[in-house]
Amino acid sequence: MEIELPWVEKYRPKKLDEVFGQANISQRLKSYIEKRNVPHQLYSGPAGVGKTSCAIALAKELYGENFSQNFLELNASDERGIDVVRQTIKDFARTLAFNADFKIIFLDEADALTRDAQQALRRTMERYTQTARFILSCNFSSKIIEPLQSRCVVFRFTGIPSEEIEKKLKEIAESEKLDIEKKAIDAIIYVAQGDLRKAINILQGSAFVSQKISEKNVYSVSSQARPEEIKEMISLALKSKFIEARNLLDKLMYEYGMGGEDVLIQLYRELLDFDEKVLNNKKKIELIDTVAEYNFRLVEGANERVQLEALLAQFMK
Ligand SMILES: Nc1ncnc2c1ncn2[C@@H]1O[C@H](COP(=O)(O)OP(=O)(O)O)[C@@H](O)[C@H]1O
Ligand SMILES: [Mg+2]
Repeated sequence: MEIELPWVEKYRPKKLDEVFGQANISQRLKSYIEKRNVPHQLYSGPAGVGKTSCAIALAKELYGENFSQNFLELNASDERGIDVVRQTIKDFARTLAFNADFKIIFLDEADALTRDAQQALRRTMERYTQTARFILSCNFSSKIIEPLQSRCVVFRFTGIPSEEIEKKLKEIAESEKLDIEKKAIDAIIYVAQGDLRKAINILQGSAFVSQKISEKNVYSVSSQARPEEIKEMISLALKSKFIEARNLLDKLMYEYGMGGEDVLIQLYRELLDFDEKVLNNKKKIELIDTVAEYNFRLVEGANERVQLEALLAQFMK
């Protein structure tokens, strides 16, 4: 059997023009290409919104066929350690660019670096600034030390809007000859929460099960419950119907294979969204506080099943 490329790679934008959303970021990057000059950059924002794609597209358009000689992609949280990362950067930056003025080093998860490692990175950046430009990528720019931030042009990426996710899913579904129902698209959008990588992965996971993508297989592939099921569990608990609420919890954990934290995160999300006529704001806040408390217990290693049942019992008070 032919091994299939992950769809997130297969459908990764090849040009800046194919990157969508991200107000003007691709326009600004294109102006760097026209001037053939690229500053150090810092991309910050949530996962799966086009940070890596922008860096790769920028380099591809800049270098053309010499892309692979001049572009290095690294992950700062490489399990082999920071020394390997540092050495790889030095080895790459030290030699001249191939048919270009400088190379580009893309360092993903830069916020995983300690402050000391970031200081060292800053020195490396300065030392090789003639021959290499850095693009750092992170989820939270607040975790990047000021001296690094001030040397970079900062670009803030945001979650991908539902319409754009829908467009991309339909495009892939067409090219992969999938039969996808509207409800399944909505389900993927619900689960992905603005993360397009997640959306594409769920689509591929569902397609692995069947070419016909239904809402049901989307939720089962992503180990999530339908929002209505979570709301139903909350309602039952609020009405002190413990056995029924617990049966629903069973379904989530054993039938859907949700972990304790998955359940809690979705509970939290649905609580926020719960009808105010049934649950006033004051009560909502109390319950969210309770969810947070139980989340802490799970992180500390308490038994998931027992804790979640205890949480449902709390809802009845
Ligand atoms: N803004 C975007 N425009 C087009 N495709 C995107 C965008 N953001 C994400 N994608 C899709 O999601 C996948 C993951 O995006 P990526 O750039 O790796 O995200 P990040 O680096 O922000 O985590 C890409 O392969 C691409 O298919
Ligand atoms: Mg990335």
